[in-house]
Amino acid sequence: MPYAIKVKKENAEAIRRKLVKKGLLDSRWSIVIDGEYLYLPVKEKVDGAIFMDLPKRKKRKSPYESIRELVGCPIPDYWEKIGEVALLPPYHYEDVKKVGEAFAKVLKAKTVAIYHGVEGEFRVPKIEVIYGKDTETVHVENGIKYMLDLAKVMFSSGNVEERIRMSRIDAKGEIVVDMFAGIGYFSLPLAKYAGAAKIYACEKNPIAYHYLLKNIEINEIHNIIPLLGDNREVAPKKVADRVLLGYVHTEPFLPVAMEALREEGGVIHYHDTFTTEERNWKPEENIKRYAAAHGFQARILYKRVIKSYAPHIWHIVVDARLFPKD
Ligand SMILES: C[S@@+](CC[C@H](N)C(=O)[O-])C[C@H]1O[C@@H](n2cnc3c(N)ncnc32)[C@H](O)[C@@H]1O
Repeated sequence: MPYAIKVKKENAEAIRRKLVKKGLLDSRWSIVIDGEYLYLPVKEKVDGAIFMDLPKRKKRKSPYESIRELVGCPIPDYWEKIGEVALLPPYHYEDVKKVGEAFAKVLKAKTVAIYHGVEGEFRVPKIEVIYGKDTETVHVENGIKYMLDLAKVMFSSGNVEERIRMSRIDAKGEIVVDMFAGIGYFSLPLAKYAGAAKIYACEKNPIAYHYLLKNIEINEIHNIIPLLGDNREVAPKKVADRVLLGYVHTEPFLPVAMEALREEGGVIHYHDTFTTEERNWKPEENIKRYAAAHGFQARILYKRVIKSYAPHIWHIVVDARLFPKD
């Protein structure tokens, strides 16, 4: 039985907050209402506290606990929910039907699938649907709606920080070229929040391009110019204040980025993958080398490891400002 203090209803919230602040509220017990009064459980015999028979507080089950209980056998302790679709990692599932139903019920997902990574130039996901059918959904992040079909185009939860960083960049009045736009992962936050005047969004995969158009429409964006095709052919030249290379294996595309920049130069956001041995020097070295070959010099502004891409391989982003060589 805990100690409790009896307080008037109208003062209860303020007193509860004070108790929480002082670490005195005893959360193992329920708060009980009695007419105009409330009993707040406390951890020690503070002034006015009395011994009270309060009911134990019911511990809320975590989604993991609820799913585990429904399935009745081991399940992985991580998954992703993108829009209304739950993506589970490969695992030794004993009964996939039961697993699908349990995840759908607890996570309120319309579809549940096992996700086996992405493949090819278009980064197409390999998924195995185990509950429901419809893999098209709208994922909302940072006030932006991303419509996509998770069986056809990827959505990397690991890149969330970078999508948010793009929304915080000061690109006021700038012309931007997004060389690997996808469904608008970076173009949409830049267009909506960063003040860019115009974003040329290049995308080669017609399915990703279809969702890029949809996302421009549902987010009511007016400063993105979508361009369907290979950026080596469709990216405009000598116009950009800022160029994004939001993909992997992008070193061969650095000349396209340099050619997209205005003669006065600008900023590039260079994403690529590097081995553990290379990661400390090669990203900067690549930028400086390609910049020099195109009449620019480079100042490195920012560098961050975005995520582990494969064992000993890192996805890294480097921002650099390029100036004409003296
Ligand atoms: C999937 S996105 C990369 C992930 C993204 N940065 C994020 O935040 O999740 C890369 C996109 O570049 C597209 N792409 C690949 N090569 C291309 C090229 N040469 N020109 C234009 N788009 C290309 C792919 O189809 C894909 O949609």
